[in-house]
Amino acid sequence: MNSTNMISTEIERELAQATQLQRQGQGARAAEIYRKVLKLSPKIAPAHYNLALLLKDQGKPAAADKAFKSALKCSPEYVMAWTAYARFLSDRGRHRDAVRASIRAAHLQELSGPAVQELADRLKAAGRSDLGSIGEDALLLCLGRRDVSGDGTILAVLTRLLAHPALKKLLSPGIGKDTSEKLLEEPRAAAAFFAALTEPMVAAAFTSLILPLREVEQLLIFARRVAQKSQMKIPIEALAVLALQIDLAEYALPTGESSNGAPSDELRAAVFSALMAPLDPKAAASLLEKHKEALVTKRYTRELLLRQGPEKLRERLLKDKLIVLSASADDVSHKVQAQYEESPYPRWRGLRSGGEVTLPALVKSLFPGLVIPKLKNAPKVLIAGCGTGRHALRTIRRIIGADVTAIDLSRTSLAYACRQAEDLGIKLRFAQADITALPDDLGRFDLIECCGVLHHMADPEAAWKGLIRHLAPHGLMKIALYSENARQDVVAVHQLVGDKLSTLDLDDVRHLRQQLLALSEDHPAAPVTRELDFYSLSGCRDFLFHQQEQRFDLSRIGGALKNMNLEFFGFEFADPRPLAAYRQRFPQDISAQNLANWAEIEIGSPTLFRGMYQFWCRPLS
Ligand SMILES: C[S@@+](CC[C@H](N)C(=O)[O-])C[C@H]1O[C@@H](n2cnc3c(N)ncnc32)[C@H](O)[C@@H]1O
Repeated sequence: MNSTNMISTEIERELAQATQLQRQGQGARAAEIYRKVLKLSPKIAPAHYNLALLLKDQGKPAAADKAFKSALKCSPEYVMAWTAYARFLSDRGRHRDAVRASIRAAHLQELSGPAVQELADRLKAAGRSDLGSIGEDALLLCLGRRDVSGDGTILAVLTRLLAHPALKKLLSPGIGKDTSEKLLEEPRAAAAFFAALTEPMVAAAFTSLILPLREVEQLLIFARRVAQKSQMKIPIEALAVLALQIDLAEYALPTGESSNGAPSDELRAAVFSALMAPLDPKAAASLLEKHKEALVTKRYTRELLLRQGPEKLRERLLKDKLIVLSASADDVSHKVQAQYEESPYPRWRGLRSGGEVTLPALVKSLFPGLVIPKLKNAPKVLIAGCGTGRHALRTIRRIIGADVTAIDLSRTSLAYACRQAEDLGIKLRFAQADITALPDDLGRFDLIECCGVLHHMADPEAAWKGLIRHLAPHGLMKIALYSENARQDVVAVHQLVGDKLSTLDLDDVRHLRQQLLALSEDHPAAPVTRELDFYSLSGCRDFLFHQQEQRFDLSRIGGALKNMNLEFFGFEFADPRPLAAYRQRFPQDISAQNLANWAEIEIGSPTLFRGMYQFWCRPLS
């Protein structure tokens, strides 16, 4: 019998009282009761656990650590305690221990999506810390899962790759093109590199995440060249891993020359060809069928054919079935649609799991200082400008009971979104529509999210106003807009490109990427090459070379809120630090709603809103 089952009724009563006090914020009294209970029965794990949480909040880390350990000693399968302990360790920079604790919690939950997502978050917090082999174990659990977003693990991944014996020289920071190419021409180094590509962690990294590093890109170019020219017999699976990374980056590399003479083996020839350009989807699908048996032992080759064949073919079918509510209504919409038809963005593979809450609970957690009444428990939600669907699918996962309609201009983006929804078994409505020309019968929504979209229109404020007409009574809006201050490096790119910006094709984008990579570190445009989006073709177009981009500052946002009679609730940040900085600077403004104060903070920290001004508001009643 577990220690927690042996709790007497009296102790149970005391624990219930302590928990109640803890919830009411009376930590000191609750801690007293837990201590009393533990004196009588030292093996009650929940008492140790709750005490640990209180001690943590009271700023007593050593005592909290001891209490967590006691809880886990009494009850080694206590999932909540392992999870909270992992977060506690992570917050204190003890990343290796945090990741170890999180792995334990994940196994205890049979590696469920939310549990592995939690582990991915611990890896994210670890950043570039050296996690040793435990980091590799953790990455193997997180990477490549459809129900986990691995994007946050990128620094942990790069740190591991940079420490790999066969990769570290080739990827050493700042390594010049000539040195890197020479190294790879050395047969032993090349053999070690290609062998490393199919090691589980390296392969998981190359096949599931874009690796946003100029040295990786350089290496891909040379490896592709060596593979084409060398006499060495490189295993097909290593080539497939390489091709999958090139495919994730959507062939953003400079177009190279194809090899002379394709190999006679059909599969090998296909993989070689996929190093240079995507395969024809029908051809990839038929190879997959024809070589079904041989592919059982070639998982990366199979994956490559699957992504470039059946996935694409399904998207074509889904595209044909899309409902049209309205087509592009003006010139700007036309141009923007054309861009996203050619380059749907973002391409994504894993959807974030966990963190499910009701809408009222979500709003309360975002804006604890405010009382925002009349929020629906199972809201009707409109995602206006859903792109490739990650945003809409995440909203369904995040908000319990959400009934979601997702619209976008781009049919190719919507088809990608529909395919992902099908794969993940998530139900929602998708339709093609121009936000600037929404049909009246679209309906009314309790929440409208329009993130990263309005700034791509001719008149963002007019489109925003149009969306308000589709809000149900007491309905909320979440809006995200580009910040002028945070995008000064992008402005510098626009200055370099000049008038050509509106006529760029994909080859121009490839070419310009190389020019940007060649800029000196201190050039005002150089920071863009350190961003994830720079490393894929659609990302780069969306980030740097958009057909239509407006940027906002806080006074423009303040003016729009006022003109539209909207109440501003506050900003949503993925990271708690900006809000902490605000509170420190303006301790009297508990609700952090003052835009003039935020403008002051932004002056001191111009990239604060790099992830856009993301905020919630609703019409004043
Ligand atoms: C940068 S993507 C953002 C997608 C999504 N909100 C997200 O966060 O992943 C911008 C999207 O807005 C869509 N868009 C731009 N103007 C639009 C309009 N007038 N009506 C509908 N969608 C529009 C584009 O087609 C594109 O898919």
